[in-house]
Amino acid sequence: MNNLLEAVNLSRYFKEGNEEIKAVNNINFSIKENEKIVIYGRSGSGKSTLLNLLSGLDTYSSGQINYRNFLYNNNQNKLTKLRKDSMGFVYQFHHLLKEFSAVENVALSSMILGENKKKSMQDATSILNKFGLSERLKHFPSQLSGGEKQRVAMARALINKPELIFLDEPTGNLDADTSKEVINYLQLIAKEFKSSVIVATHDPEFRNFGDKILTMDSGVFV
Ligand SMILES: Nc1ncnc2c1ncn2[C@@H]1O[C@H](COP(=O)(O)OP(=O)(O)OP(=O)(O)O)[C@@H](O)[C@H]1O
Ligand SMILES: [Mg+2]
Repeated sequence: MNNLLEAVNLSRYFKEGNEEIKAVNNINFSIKENEKIVIYGRSGSGKSTLLNLLSGLDTYSSGQINYRNFLYNNNQNKLTKLRKDSMGFVYQFHHLLKEFSAVENVALSSMILGENKKKSMQDATSILNKFGLSERLKHFPSQLSGGEKQRVAMARALINKPELIFLDEPTGNLDADTSKEVINYLQLIAKEFKSSVIVATHDPEFRNFGDKILTMDSGVFV
């Protein structure tokens, strides 16, 4: 199988006064089509920094990232388009829009790519059904449990069938049982959509999720 994304000698340094923090320090990383990778590591080990680089949100200090044959950095417009067309994002906090219902929150993600409202609402309904939320379509975020909100956030990230989905501590606010449930849904749907997945987490419930588990410490894989 082909590499979808590949990072070579990737580093991200932050200046803190006279000190330089090597948040990501000369890392090599790759993910294949359809592959799921879990990145563990203590707080401050560099997981979020790495995800932000790989997903094109942050710019690296040195190294190189390729997405298929596209080299990051040399074309910001193309990178923005790549993020929109090929990637999905889920964070610890769901970031759902509180004025919109569950189905509207998910549909918006498709409408942003130019799909019409009717089809977007149909697709949003269908994916929320897959996430076990058929009884919650018209609920607003304030009317949903933590686990339900994270499932909506995942549906929103997956509605456009991204090739690659990034999740940063997606179960950070959930208890173990809810976490397990959310992870099971993610597993099923990522498989159906053939999405590659990169998860940064502390959550031991993810230990059986990935094809590969990596552990970060002080900006490197250990
Ligand atoms: N914008 C920034 N400016 C300065 N230092 C930063 C910045 N972002 C991250 N760092 C530092 O880089 C290191 C890695 O941080 P990062 O957020 O990637 O860790 P993490 O593994 O995601 O931690 P957590 O599990 O708590 O989310 C830390 O020492 C952090 O303080
Ligand atoms: Mg983090």
